[in-house]
Amino acid sequence: MPAAPSKVIVPKYWRGELERVLIAEHEIQTRVAELARQLQHDYARRELVIVALLNGTVMFLADLVRHLELPLRLDFIGVSSYGKGTTPGRLHVTKELKVDVRGRDVLLIDDILDTGRTLKAVSAKLKRFRPRSLKTCVLLNKQARRVEKIRADYIGFQIEDFFVVGYGLDFAEQYRNLPFIGVLHEKIYLAGNK
Ligand code: XMP
Repeated sequence: MPAAPSKVIVPKYWRGELERVLIAEHEIQTRVAELARQLQHDYARRELVIVALLNGTVMFLADLVRHLELPLRLDFIGVSSYGKGTTPGRLHVTKELKVDVRGRDVLLIDDILDTGRTLKAVSAKLKRFRPRSLKTCVLLNKQARRVEKIRADYIGFQIEDFFVVGYGLDFAEQYRNLPFIGVLHEKIYLAGNK
């Protein structure tokens, strides 16, 4: 599902920092409910372990799981690959998995699939625990910058090569609280990359 530019205008408070709203709140909510229906169908009556990557998945995860009527366990892996800028660096694990995923159906959730380095590295890490199955689900897919050969099994929206923030996604830990996905003004991240 490609994200067509939203007709919703940037709320006044954020106008100095955001160029535009890429995906409006109601569009996110509709699509998240659709994704949940698909997951509900595919995992019907199976026990599922959702492993979500911190911190960008917080909103997506919270909205998605509330639609699911499944025996569900939740755990988190903390990874960080960005400093203040928008260029990916080395991947650091900041929180390890606690739930035992051996022999279980696992769904790995991330906010955005960009170069693919994060999802590839974390998938490889999870496979070492020998889950029964491992699938991946991302809210956003930014194909343009893909470096690793990896595709997600469930995708919310296809987006072009913009640096996006909001609905959990950050720039320098800010903007996670926006209920929509917005495109950050270049001047903000160019200043941050210095
Ligand atoms: P990779 O490149 O490893 O990226 O696929 C995955 C992680 O990078 C972050 N990321 C972004 N964060 N706006 C953000 O706020 C973006 O446009 C963006 N692109 C990548 C994100 O944390 C993701 O988990």
